[in-house]
Amino acid sequence: MKQVLIEQYGTPWEVARCAEVADVGAPAADEVVFDVLAFPINPADMGFCRGSYRLRPPLPATPGAECVGRVTAVGANVKHVKAGDLVINLQRENWTQRRKVKGDDAIPLPAGIDLKQAAMVRINPPTAQLMLSDFVDLKGGDWVIQNVANSAVGRLLIVLAHQRGLRTVNVVRRPELATELKGLGADLVIVDGDDLPERVARETGDAPIKLGVEAIGAAATGRIVNCVATDGTVVHYGSMSGVDPQVGRTNFVYRGVKLTGFMLGRFLARRSAEQIRAIYADLGQQVMDGRLSAPVDTVYPIDKIKDALAHADKGGRNGKILVSPNGAI
Ligand SMILES: NC(=O)c1ccc[n+]([C@@H]2O[C@H](COP(=O)([O-])OP(=O)(O)OC[C@H]3O[C@@H](n4cnc5c(N)ncnc54)[C@H](OP(=O)(O)O)[C@@H]3O)[C@@H](O)[C@H]2O)c1
Repeated sequence: MKQVLIEQYGTPWEVARCAEVADVGAPAADEVVFDVLAFPINPADMGFCRGSYRLRPPLPATPGAECVGRVTAVGANVKHVKAGDLVINLQRENWTQRRKVKGDDAIPLPAGIDLKQAAMVRINPPTAQLMLSDFVDLKGGDWVIQNVANSAVGRLLIVLAHQRGLRTVNVVRRPELATELKGLGADLVIVDGDDLPERVARETGDAPIKLGVEAIGAAATGRIVNCVATDGTVVHYGSMSGVDPQVGRTNFVYRGVKLTGFMLGRFLARRSAEQIRAIYADLGQQVMDGRLSAPVDTVYPIDKIKDALAHADKGGRNGKILVSPNGAI
């Protein structure tokens, strides 16, 4: 079977290759085997290939934080999924044609769900959802501000916040996105810049913003911090700039703003296996209904992984780059 391997850390499309490897074999009693139908290339996967992600396993290694698969075989003790079911996988190393995992790591999705969207259920939807629920007790009408608002996480957060009656300020780097993001439910769409706090204050009528979420780092974190209210909270969850957050200390000393961080695994680990399945059952249903979605730019076959990675690195895309290892999408 085919599998993506990196043999050294470096520029993703230079270090990754599609290799022929041994098949995974039959499942043990507590295992599930599935064909990988699709996987997205996320920023964290690019960081993994570069060696800048928090996980840096010995090489050769296979990237891939998420995927959707169709179960081909289950062990005797696995009861919650059966052959033919669609599943997402809580484990990594998903850039391959077939996976064998512990039964508990295979989470079922509704039959008939759009496969491209299903490939993106595992990480970004719960990230957007838990950032809205786990830091600040938000009530209808409260304001939230976020940057990278055009990212998959950002778009999902707009929809999930709108469902809850929250109002969002959405910071982007391209003004032409405003109409599209407002169509998803964004209240305000504002282009980032040095005077961001003044413009946000003007456009919200000086509304107190209780929660900021940001994924750029460097001075961009500081701009989001400057926008939130006294005693507000800012959650740093990604680093599109690759630079640590730069925040003026007066925000902490005079205004009591809290700067904290989010990592999905850490927040899922606080929950039971049952609660995690319930989160994905809800999000999977919302994807199935078309209430949650993320745009897809291009789908590549697995043997074009180098082209897919180079494309994923380009700005100005109209959505995610996906890979279809078995030609299913
Ligand atoms: N902590 C966690 O558990 C967790 C979970 C999921 C995701 N994340 C993080 O969330 C972030 C978004 O992920 P995603 O999958 O939603 O991303 P995505 O859909 O691939 O979109 C990336 C976004 O980043 C913007 N961007 C890229 N480089 C930038 C820069 N130098 N300055 C400002 N904006 C920049 C792009 O803007 P344009 O639209 O203008 O091109 C795009 O909106 C990433 O940092 C990812 O690592 C973290």
